[in-house]
Amino acid sequence: MGDVKFGILTVSTSCHENPAKDLAGPKLATATAEAFPSSRITFKMIVTDSFPEIVNALKLATQPNVCDVLFTVGGTGFAPSDVTPEATRAVIEKEATGLSCALIAKSLAITDMAMLSRPACGIKNRTIIVNFPGSAKAAVECFGFIKTSILHAVALLN
Ligand code: MTE
Repeated sequence: MGDVKFGILTVSTSCHENPAKDLAGPKLATATAEAFPSSRITFKMIVTDSFPEIVNALKLATQPNVCDVLFTVGGTGFAPSDVTPEATRAVIEKEATGLSCALIAKSLAITDMAMLSRPACGIKNRTIIVNFPGSAKAAVECFGFIKTSILHAVALLN
C-alpha cells in the first residue's frame, strides 16, 4: 500500500501572486515522490494568507477521495497574517496532536526557531492534514520527520 494520494496547499500571498516563488511546494512534491514512488499528487493549490481562502481550500482538498494526506506549507508562524493553524482547526474533526508534537520535537533538534512554528494537524473525513512551515528547507525536513508514520496512518483511516 504505497499508492497514497497527496495534496499540497501552499499558503503564501507572495507565491499566490507569483507561483514561480513557490519553492517549497515543488520540493515537497519531489520528496513525496521519492519516499513513496507509487504515490500521486492529486491536489495542488496556492492561496493567500487569508483565513476564508485557506478554509475553502482545506474543504475542497478533504472532499471524499481527493487526497489521503494534505500538507499545508506556510503560515504557521507568529506574524499577524499567519493563520494556517487556525484555519486547519476550523476544518478538522479530530486533532492529531502526536503529529504536531513530532514536528516540533524533531525540528527543535535542528533549530531553536522551530519553537516559532505553531502547527495544527488533524483529520477531516478520511484526509490527514499536516501543517508544515513555509520555507522549502523546513517543509522538506518536516516531511522527513513524519514520513515513517504515513502509510500506517492512512491504513487506519481506510
Ligand atoms: N522547522 C524546521 N524543521 N526547520 C526550520 O528551518 N524554521 C522555523 C520554524 N520551523 C524551521 C522550522 C522558522 S524560522 C519559523 S519563523 C517558523 O517555522 C514558522 O514558519 P512559517 O511562518 O513559514 O510557517
